[in-house]
Amino acid sequence: MGREFASACARWCHLTEMNARPELVAVCDKNPELYGWYSGNFPSVKQITDDYKLLLANPDVDAVYCAVPHNLHEQLYCDIIKAGKHLLGEKPFGIDKKANDAISECIRQHPKVFVRCSSEFPFFPPMQRLGEMIGTDAFGEIVEVNSGFLHSSDLNPDKPINWKRIINLNGEYGCMGDLGIHTCHFPFRAGWFPKNVRAILSKHVKHRPDKTGKPVPCETWDNATLLCESADTRTGNSFPLTIKTQRIAPGETDTWYFEVKGMRGCGRWSSKNPRLLEILEYKGGVQAWQQIDMGWEAAFKGITGGIFEFGFTDSILQMWAAFLYEMTEGKPKSKFSACVTPDEAAMSHRLFTAALKSWKKSTVETV
Ligand SMILES: NC(=O)c1ccc[n+]([C@@H]2O[C@H](COP(=O)([O-])OP(=O)(O)OC[C@H]3O[C@@H](n4cnc5c(N)ncnc54)[C@H](O)[C@@H]3O)[C@@H](O)[C@H]2O)c1
Repeated sequence: MGREFASACARWCHLTEMNARPELVAVCDKNPELYGWYSGNFPSVKQITDDYKLLLANPDVDAVYCAVPHNLHEQLYCDIIKAGKHLLGEKPFGIDKKANDAISECIRQHPKVFVRCSSEFPFFPPMQRLGEMIGTDAFGEIVEVNSGFLHSSDLNPDKPINWKRIINLNGEYGCMGDLGIHTCHFPFRAGWFPKNVRAILSKHVKHRPDKTGKPVPCETWDNATLLCESADTRTGNSFPLTIKTQRIAPGETDTWYFEVKGMRGCGRWSSKNPRLLEILEYKGGVQAWQQIDMGWEAAFKGITGGIFEFGFTDSILQMWAAFLYEMTEGKPKSKFSACVTPDEAAMSHRLFTAALKSWKKSTVETV
């Protein structure tokens, strides 16, 4: 993910209306095999180190993107904030709720530091359009919302184990910590918070080969389905909000989806067919879905013509534009063209912690 960010910096010229421009000046990674890629592609990089404390001591560093395994989030994020550097941290923003609480407390103690959490999918143009529609109350009273992230990167049982399958490194949340914030970003931004949750968690591959081929325990949850009670922000009426995160979703490579159903209309989008926005407007009579082929109609304008396709790397660039825009202008460009806030990340931790309890005890848990 560090290289994804660096690549977004390299094509900042793509954006035409940004006042701020990032310059990649320092890199920290424990893996020296990556250093040549950074130094060969970024003459602006003056510091490459395996010690993040040296990077934090560098006065040329104003802001840090930190993408490390989840067990390191609390320590590194807090040290970055204490060093007075602005931070875009990766999800889940702490390995568990205790770590997230500590990060939140550190943010409270350093109010001048701008901190956000990464989540890029809402920057796809159809999602931006759905955000505008939520803003103008186009769906009427909300009947149901479904949000999910499904991929099959762990479908192959022979895939060697990595840190995401080890509780001490990835956290007990498993797939929820790995994928969950992506699914919460949009509903939470709309004000659709979970009041309670009933969770079903599953584990399909219980052992995986290590580097030597020896089977070792694969500890974390593969898949989670959370059925939550949420409420319409206008009427207060309850509606079901389902959140699915799956690392073993046969048939899906990397599918992020969102669907809203309301009394006056519905809308849905899936990254499986990334330019297709589906909308249903209900004014009485026939219910007809419209299929809209959306092009490069991004929140942060760029050089690409409006008819062309938008992709994953565009969404990373847009997320970075949102981070730098809010950091330098003091407010987001619009409600839905903004990164996850620390409060939204904290809400996701309350949800995932309640989901673990719900599954363990077969109960409905208050979030
Ligand atoms: N936004 C997204 O779409 C997205 C996608 C994948 C991963 N992530 C998140 O990014 C983070 C990293 O995941 P990844 O898939 O890039 O993992 P990764 O294992 O590919 O990369 C982690 C990097 O951290 C480095 N590292 C480990 N300990 C370090 C330390 N003490 N100091 C400096 N560097 C250290 C490793 O050498 C490695 O290069 C996680 O929080 C993950 O949830 C986000």
